[in-house]
Amino acid sequence: MATFEPVLTRNWNVPDARTLKVYESRGGYQAARKALTTMDPDAVVNVVKDSELRGRGGAGFPCGLKWTFLPKDRKETLMCVNGDESEPATFNNRYLLERDPHMFLEGILISCFATRASTAYVYLRFEYINAYKIMEKAIEEARAAGHLGKNIYGTGFDLDVWLHRGAGAYICGEETGLIESLEGKRGWPRIKPPFPAIEGAFRKPTVVNNIETLCCVPHIIERGASWFKSIGTPKSYGPKLYTVSGHVEKQVCVELPLGVTTRQLIDDHAGGVWKGRKAKAAVPGGISMGLLSADELDTPLDFESLRKPGCLGLGTAAVTVIDDHTPIIDYLVNTARFFAHESCGQCTPCREGTNWMNRTIQRIKRGGGRVEDLDVMLHLANNLGIIPGTTICGLADGAAWPIKNAVAKFRGELEDYIRSNQVPGAGPTPLQLDIAAGRKVDLVAIGNAIPAPPPPAGALHSPGRPSA
Ligand SMILES: Cc1cc2nc3c(=O)[nH]c(=O)nc-3n(C[C@H](O)[C@H](O)[C@H](O)COP(=O)(O)O)c2cc1C
Ligand code: SF4
Repeated sequence: MATFEPVLTRNWNVPDARTLKVYESRGGYQAARKALTTMDPDAVVNVVKDSELRGRGGAGFPCGLKWTFLPKDRKETLMCVNGDESEPATFNNRYLLERDPHMFLEGILISCFATRASTAYVYLRFEYINAYKIMEKAIEEARAAGHLGKNIYGTGFDLDVWLHRGAGAYICGEETGLIESLEGKRGWPRIKPPFPAIEGAFRKPTVVNNIETLCCVPHIIERGASWFKSIGTPKSYGPKLYTVSGHVEKQVCVELPLGVTTRQLIDDHAGGVWKGRKAKAAVPGGISMGLLSADELDTPLDFESLRKPGCLGLGTAAVTVIDDHTPIIDYLVNTARFFAHESCGQCTPCREGTNWMNRTIQRIKRGGGRVEDLDVMLHLANNLGIIPGTTICGLADGAAWPIKNAVAKFRGELEDYIRSNQVPGAGPTPLQLDIAAGRKVDLVAIGNAIPAPPPPAGALHSPGRPSA
């Protein structure tokens, strides 16, 4: 097998690699010049399509194919780059922004040329203030040097890049939530179709791509589609940035061919499980993707293989290691709280399901669990977003998967926890028991039994509740 040559991280240890001068001295912007001055946009799209580059933002959708969905007769195209990066334990995009901003800008430039977009918005996670400042500087430099702005390289192609900071909501990473937020509205995902390629930001045809996806583009143009396809597994091509965190000796972001295993990442790159312990489990690609148990750590981390151990997919390739001293209930407590907090609330199964799940898990943690709760949780997980068309976006699926995996893979441990941690009075209320058992409950009578709130001071009328 040929030795792997990292490309996405190739400038990371070079002094001043963030500056245009150093970036150019290492061959930077040559791929952009090649694309803009010797190729036409469709030819660029075709090379990216042939490379079978799949989106690195989570869904793994083929990038070149997505670009072909733009209407042929469009007058204007917008590019939205997804730098929200709010999937827990994911920090590959932050590293790309902070360590090689010009490589990212070159990726934007080529991709905008290919899709004929003259405006690109980079939507950045609120907390990424350092990355924001670095990008501001890089954009300024690129504009002054003629890599951005009007008539780039004398080709007549214009491009402006704008930075936009989010306000700290996970849901604004979902592409249509991002678009709504960019438009200045609440980040509520839109019902699709229409997909952004047809009607996206400001109702115009819009391409949404992740930062790492676009960073692959200059290298594909420079080295060709077959080079890209020579890296990885038979169906998942190219280099990938893997982040490893949690209970490891060293938290890292490493570039490796798609298909490396979690065990390799832990042992060869992250210094092993911390404190000399063993891994109990690992989250393979951000918490939405589910959980691998210790005996599944040799599963290749690519777009196909993770389905076999029951995970949702590769996601963001952010691996979180859980050591054998950590109760799985603690993992569930954090996961359920996160999704209940981040659900935007538009869809009933997601809004109610994530909250029920959270409350049930918190109750189990407090010592009020029942063994039957595990089946109630599975029932909830199977009815969150798994039934096609019941929710607007993928958050509900992502909330369900960790629960399904944890209950399936660690049922024995969870049952033991429930049995041996009973705290008197911490269990469910009689009403919750009736609902969980499917017994008929008279919600009107219950509502009427709750006293009406006092009228607000100075109010003439208060609708209150009808008395029983
Ligand atoms: C709840 C949710 C959160 C998401 N968060 C992100 C994110 O932070 N960054 C990202 O690139 N994609 C995120 N995505 C995926 C995007 O919707 C979209 O698929 C992606 O930005 C497309 O880019 P790509 O094809 O280059 O991967 C999220 C999806 C969902 C459902
Ligand atoms: S699935 Fe959840 S997060 Fe997504 S739109 Fe519906 S309520 Fe909002």
